[in-house]
Amino acid sequence: MTDCDPRSLRVNLNELPYPPPARVLRAAAEALKSSNLYPEGRDVLVLKELMAKYTGVAPENVHFASGSDYAFYELFSQLRVFSSGPLALIIDPTFSSYEPILKATGWKVERVRLIEGEERWNLPPDGLKDALKHLKPSLLVVDDPNNPTGSPIFGGEGIEGLAGSLDEWGGWLLIDEAYAEFSGYSISKLVGSIGNLVVFRTLSKAFALAGLRSSALLAAERLIASIESGSPRFELSRPTLAASLEALRDPSYALRYAREIVNERQRMWLRLAGIQYLKSYKSWTNFFLLKFTDEDALRRTGINFMRPAMRGSFARFSLMDREADDCLLVALEESLRSRIK
Ligand SMILES: Cc1ncc(COP(=O)(O)O)c(C=O)c1O
Repeated sequence: MTDCDPRSLRVNLNELPYPPPARVLRAAAEALKSSNLYPEGRDVLVLKELMAKYTGVAPENVHFASGSDYAFYELFSQLRVFSSGPLALIIDPTFSSYEPILKATGWKVERVRLIEGEERWNLPPDGLKDALKHLKPSLLVVDDPNNPTGSPIFGGEGIEGLAGSLDEWGGWLLIDEAYAEFSGYSISKLVGSIGNLVVFRTLSKAFALAGLRSSALLAAERLIASIESGSPRFELSRPTLAASLEALRDPSYALRYAREIVNERQRMWLRLAGIQYLKSYKSWTNFFLLKFTDEDALRRTGINFMRPAMRGSFARFSLMDREADDCLLVALEESLRSRIK
């Protein structure tokens, strides 16, 4: 293997290591030429149709936003208007954006803590059921698979029953499927039949468009219409619209990228399992969560890990190409070997 510097690895943001295909880049570049013009409303309608086809819902169930932060801001603000009480339940750990945006839009936040298992993280048995019964939250937010653990939470099962329970007191369920292409499961198409279900999808991960900011909320027509009545007129830029349209016209590249990542994930899972004094958790995403025995070993790797808000020496890294991943493995092995000396 060629010399590598683990400090230069970009692994902390769960990005895809591949650029978008040339046809998608060309579409964005072409759109840049008419930057003197506002984005076209009809492009947004076509984009909704394409996302609807891709996820198995109707175009009226789709709202596009410039990235998850903005999508969640719009959603949480609107649900405050629809909801009887300002309490949201999230899992812990979870994607770090939910809590600040919930708080900024007037929600109180409670948590259900995940439990560490042998290979993955799980909801505590009856933990969610008890929390729902006692707190009766107006909103339950779950990233499935979960960031930062990489574990499935419901894994596509039991959504009707869960949404039904929440519906007893007018509660909503948000399932964030940012990693659907890597997990092999999705409940997106249930949006058409479950009125209080919202699903989040993004073009940032398998579609390799994180830099353009293009993400979607899928929900009942009534909720989408209320969100859009107050959303900015030109939410996506011309290049973002053009690239997103081209990407969704033929999504096969994203599925191919996802397959490559899944193969690399399998290879890395076996390699990580062979490293002494390091615990890794099985992943359903494009990243891994690791647990080091101590902070020194973690620091000695020199890798710019993402450090989740968890007690203990946890670190998350995203999968790259084989060469970069091997560089990371060498840094891990060396750091942990010098621990043993
Ligand atoms: C669970 C989850 N949702 C959403 C996002 C970000 O999505 P976007 O790039 O569309 O803002 C991430 C990114 O790491 C994530 O982990």
